[in-house]
Amino acid sequence: METITASARQSVATATHPDRPAPAITGSGVLPPMGPMIIDVTPKERTAISNVANILTKAFGHYEHPDYISSLHLNAFQLLPERIAGILSRFGTDFSRSQYGALVFKGLTDVDQDALGPTPPSWKETDYSRLIKYGFICSLLHGAIPSKPVQYYAQRKGGGLLHAVIPDEKMSFTQTGSGSRTDLFVHTEDAFLFNQADFLSFLFLRNEEQVPSTLYSIRSHGDTNEIMEELFKPIYKCPKDANYADDENTEEVTTSILYGNRKRPFIRFDAAEQIFNEKAGQSPEAMHNLVRFWEEAKKFINNSFVPDSGDLIFVNNHLCAHGRNSFIAGYRNENGQMVKCERRLMLRMMSKTSLINIRSVTQTDDPYFIMEEHYGKLFNNDASQQ
Ligand SMILES: [Fe+2]
Repeated sequence: METITASARQSVATATHPDRPAPAITGSGVLPPMGPMIIDVTPKERTAISNVANILTKAFGHYEHPDYISSLHLNAFQLLPERIAGILSRFGTDFSRSQYGALVFKGLTDVDQDALGPTPPSWKETDYSRLIKYGFICSLLHGAIPSKPVQYYAQRKGGGLLHAVIPDEKMSFTQTGSGSRTDLFVHTEDAFLFNQADFLSFLFLRNEEQVPSTLYSIRSHGDTNEIMEELFKPIYKCPKDANYADDENTEEVTTSILYGNRKRPFIRFDAAEQIFNEKAGQSPEAMHNLVRFWEEAKKFINNSFVPDSGDLIFVNNHLCAHGRNSFIAGYRNENGQMVKCERRLMLRMMSKTSLINIRSVTQTDDPYFIMEEHYGKLFNNDASQQ
C-alpha cells in the first residue's frame, strides 16, 4: 500500500482539481489504483477538529439540529482544517482513472474509551448521547464534499443520520474467523436502490479485534474492458436486503451494474445478493456476465488496511465497494491465543450531493429522509405522501 499511497498523494496534489490539467501519463507507467489514499492527520489538525466539534456541540446541541444541517457546508469550509477540507472537496469531483474512490484519515480523532463505555450488545442499545461529538465530526467531512447527510427508511427505518454498526453479541461464534479471501464479498451500499448514498463514512471508535477493512474499486480494473462492457446492459436484478420479504413486482426491475461515463464508469453492485443469493433470479446471460466479472473483480479486493480507533474511511459509493467482514467479534488474536476484548464499534454516515434529485423519494416534511424501498418503489408510509 505504501507505493500506492505515495502516488495517490501526488494525484491529489496535482491531478484531481478540475481546473488543472492531468499530469502527463507515460504509457503503461501509470498503474490503476489498488488501494485507498492514506492521509495522516497531524496532531494539530486532530486538536483543531476536536475543538470545532466541542464548539458545535455547545452551539447546536446535536448534529441533526436543522440550523446546523442547513448551514453544514458553510461550517465545513470555515471550521475544518484547510488541508482536510481541500482533500474532501477535490475527492467529491474526482472520477478520474487514478481515483480509487476511498480515503483513509488516520488518527482523525482521539477516542476516550472510558467515556465511551462498553460496546453495547447491538446497535439497538446504543446510547447516542455519547456519540454527539463524532456525529459533528463525520457530518463536517461530508459537508466539505459538499454532500448532505441523509437517512434511509430501508436501513433501520431511518434511525438518524449516524448509525452505530456493531457486531451482534449473539452472532459472535456463528462467523468464521478464518478470513479466507474467497469468503469476502463486497457491495456498494444499498445496491437495490436507485437513490443509494453518494458518499459513506466509517469512523472506527474501536477495532480491537484488528479486523482489516475490505474495499474494492471499479478503477482497479483500469480502462473498461470487454467483460465490463456487458455490465452496462440494464439486465441485472438486485434483491432487496435479505431482511425484507420478497415483492414480486419490483423483483422484476432490472438495471445496469455500470453506469455514467462509459470509459470511467460508476458501479452499483452487491456480490452476495446479485450472484450468490439463490433468490436473485438473474437471467442466464446476466448471471454469466456477473460470474465472469466477479472472477476478475475479486482479485482486486483490498484488505490490507487495519483501522485503529479514531481512523475514518471515506468512500465514494459509486466508485468503491466495501466488504462484509467475517471475524470473531469480541476476541483478538495475541500470539495465536484468542483473548477477549471489547467488540468493534463503528459509526456510519451516508450522504447525497443533491436533495433536489432525490425529492421524489424523500418525505414531504423531511427532504433528508429517503423512502425508496426497491428500485424506485416507495415504502407505503403516510409521512412520504402528506
Ligand atoms: Fe455496507
